[in-house]
Amino acid sequence: MRMYDIIKKKRDGGELTTDEIKFFINGVTDGSIPDYQTSALCMAIYFKGMTVRETCDLTFAVRDSGDRLDFSEIDGIRVDKHSTGGVGDKTSLVVAPVVASFGVKVAKMSGRGLGHTGGTVDKLEAITGFRTTLSDADFIKQVNEIGFAIVGQSRQFAPADKKLYALRDVTATVDSMPLIAASIMGKKLAADDDCIVLDVKTGSGSFMKSVEDSKALARLMVDIGKNAGKKTVALITNMDRPLGYAIGNALEVIEAVQTLNGNGPEDFTEVCMTLAGYMLSLAGKGTVKECIKLAEGAIADGSALEKFKQTVKAQGGDVRLIEDVNNFTEPKYSHAVKSTQSGYICAVDTEAYGLASLALGAGRNTIEDKIDYGAGIILKRKTGDSVKAGEEIATLYANDKSKFAAAEKLLLSATRIQKDKPQDEPLVYCIVPDDDSDIDTDRHSV
Ligand code: URA
Repeated sequence: MRMYDIIKKKRDGGELTTDEIKFFINGVTDGSIPDYQTSALCMAIYFKGMTVRETCDLTFAVRDSGDRLDFSEIDGIRVDKHSTGGVGDKTSLVVAPVVASFGVKVAKMSGRGLGHTGGTVDKLEAITGFRTTLSDADFIKQVNEIGFAIVGQSRQFAPADKKLYALRDVTATVDSMPLIAASIMGKKLAADDDCIVLDVKTGSGSFMKSVEDSKALARLMVDIGKNAGKKTVALITNMDRPLGYAIGNALEVIEAVQTLNGNGPEDFTEVCMTLAGYMLSLAGKGTVKECIKLAEGAIADGSALEKFKQTVKAQGGDVRLIEDVNNFTEPKYSHAVKSTQSGYICAVDTEAYGLASLALGAGRNTIEDKIDYGAGIILKRKTGDSVKAGEEIATLYANDKSKFAAAEKLLLSATRIQKDKPQDEPLVYCIVPDDDSDIDTDRHSV
């Protein structure tokens, strides 16, 4: 088999065979295919697309390119949730303990920040002492004992994706639906869960900017999950505005803890309760409606907060920070961003908000960059809120005050203000179930 022929076939709109796709991914993994040929095929896929069958083959080849976890020693149903990436998206910190408080197992592998989006592992590392690496034995023991453990992807998971992603990043081929689906699901399927709830973000802060594209990506990923024998459902959720008010690692942990205490922002709480409801329902705990009620109950009676504390303690984190969020060290400097106009915030460029947080030191521009865990943004006004000229729309936090100017500029130019109040947008647009699923979607029909 020759890589040249595979590139030519896809360039001319042909359908690649399973063997051709395996040959490609094996060659990417062992380094025998040069970067220029890998990039050329990515570009051909970008323009010509892939069938569902080809995308499944690509996903399974990516999954099989490295280690796979074996969760057979975990007692009970294992459910995971995966977000396609957003700004202020700290849902895992709330949803996982809620679900685990009902005896459903959450053996979670999370990522670090990518581009303008934050990563759950970076957020957890804002908790002093929290270990995001555990041996397989300790990971499984913790899931069996507490119901929830969370680690980073430190092992050799889907190494083909690591190489492909790095090349896509520099060859303008990231936003290709089959390539995104294979990248996300290849990694997800390397873990050994029974059920997967996908949170496909849509809007200015997500990789998919339109609801239609997000639905198509969700459908593809749900089909891949089904073909891999997993119960899979996707929710299309709003990322035209940051989720909650906090952006940045420690700030987001604090907001998640406030939510576990029942004092979270409305939008963030609603998305968390919906995701947890679907996870519990897939795990057989009742209808979605019943399960959303269960999730709300776990917040009201403190059991989800207790589960989060147990997890933090088990992974070496300082529980005093969770018991009282005032124990988090405040960043040295803060800066108020004031509106230059009066009116209503009608739209924000959420990606730019994420980049502003990055500019404050909350993320990395290069792999070697050190994160300032205290850095970030607390929004004072969000889309739909009224504001007067001179009023604060956000507070910036950082340990290096030279970073404020660039972040403020980004934030102001990303905030559109107009005279009239904008129309409300849904937080959850719709659900994409798998065809055989008996899950009730009455709350959010497709
Ligand atoms: N997240 C991933 O892991 N891969 C993509 O291609 C896009 C988002």
